[in-house]
Amino acid sequence: MSRIVVVSNRVPVPSANGGQAGGLAVALLGLMERRGGLWFGWSGAVTEETGPPAFAQRGSVGYATLDLTEAEHRGYYTGYSNGVLWPMLHSLPHLMSFRRQDLDTYRRVNRRFADNLAPLLRGDDRIWVHDYQLFSLPGALRGQGVRNPTGFFLHVPFPAPDGAAVAPGIRGLVQDVLASDLIGFQTATDRDNFAATATEFAGAARTGDHELELGGRPIRLGIFPAEIAAREFAATAASQAALEPARLLARSIQGQSLLLGIDRLDPTKGLPERLEAFRRVIARRTPRSATMLQIAAPSREEVAAYRKLRQEVDSAAGCINSEFGEPDWLPLRLLARPQARDTVAGFMRLAKVGVVTPLRDGMNLVAKEYIAAQDPSDPGVLVLSRFAGAAAQLSSALLVNPHDAEGMAEALACALDMPLAERRDRWQQAWEAIAGASPEGWGEDFLRALAPGDLAALPAAGSA
Ligand code: G6P
Repeated sequence: MSRIVVVSNRVPVPSANGGQAGGLAVALLGLMERRGGLWFGWSGAVTEETGPPAFAQRGSVGYATLDLTEAEHRGYYTGYSNGVLWPMLHSLPHLMSFRRQDLDTYRRVNRRFADNLAPLLRGDDRIWVHDYQLFSLPGALRGQGVRNPTGFFLHVPFPAPDGAAVAPGIRGLVQDVLASDLIGFQTATDRDNFAATATEFAGAARTGDHELELGGRPIRLGIFPAEIAAREFAATAASQAALEPARLLARSIQGQSLLLGIDRLDPTKGLPERLEAFRRVIARRTPRSATMLQIAAPSREEVAAYRKLRQEVDSAAGCINSEFGEPDWLPLRLLARPQARDTVAGFMRLAKVGVVTPLRDGMNLVAKEYIAAQDPSDPGVLVLSRFAGAAAQLSSALLVNPHDAEGMAEALACALDMPLAERRDRWQQAWEAIAGASPEGWGEDFLRALAPGDLAALPAAGSA
């Protein structure tokens, strides 16, 4: 049975104290454990000099990680990946900040990853490359003579050709990704936008819904919406560990309805727009009838746009509280600290309204978690941006345009006042959309598409 080699910028190397990996990372690990695997990528460390990969072995999964130099971190990660590609891919070109040398560094780091990975590969490995930081990796691996089946999955959206064209260097990057055998996306829109860009910029021909051709070589395209372990998350939300912090929060809001937002502090998440919508809601309601808790965990603080956003959000939150607060009541609680997973699950179950309103998002697993966390007999309402990938699956949520503060305010008010029968109805539809899927299934679907028949030998997820 062939080994799986996952390559991603961040690598969830298990720490001695059992540090927490995200849901998708845990799912990939499960797949790798069953057939043996290697996880390759950045160690997370920034050092003075580059060296060979560091190795760690946990059971049947090996980890090989490279440090980045300060110049590499600045050019590849902060500069081009997060200062150019991230805003372009999320259709926020005004946030781009391009320097030619950052593109060169991005390419060089992708090549260094390929140069260090190639000697570690075995003949029958399946290679699975993740996300926009590594667009050039499939091309760089082919340049090293690697012929193994190679898949690429884009976790974030992909814009139409004109939107992609704003990122200098994108033409070469698209060509590099096209060296893959299979390219996966979250939604059909992302797939079609990429296919149109590949046709326009890279000379590929679209030979079918799920296929491109370049130089006589077929490249398969697939849609693989990222999933959560919905039943497991539901159990977490109802567990003792979740109930205790939720009880303390419930006591502090004294019967008010809770609106809840949980995000990385990122310009794509639409936080200023969301706060403006909440300001309008609170201006029209009786004081002490609703409270919003917004958790906004700091992220990518090296990037200027993120530091500026922090100030903007802090200031907007302060304005809401100074304008509408009472000596013994504040309408908005803003926490710039991540919270434990159990705690978040409990808060989600308590919240009458889950507010997930990114300007653009690849999928947004928080939306799915909010649905999973609800009490089926008395569920809350999800207010969801129509520009999140999750909206394609969760169409029974209240879908909003995050650029329309008034429309969002109306949706939030509607959610707060929604009768039980309608809440149950909408929740049931959303639950059915996510309950049968799993992150393991997501990974297996991708790997099966990459190497048809190859996964048939595996025991079903969970039965190993
Ligand atoms: C998004 C991206 C991931 C990235 C994560 C956290 O989910 O799709 O590739 O790892 O954000 O961002 P960071 O820059 O901290 O890795």
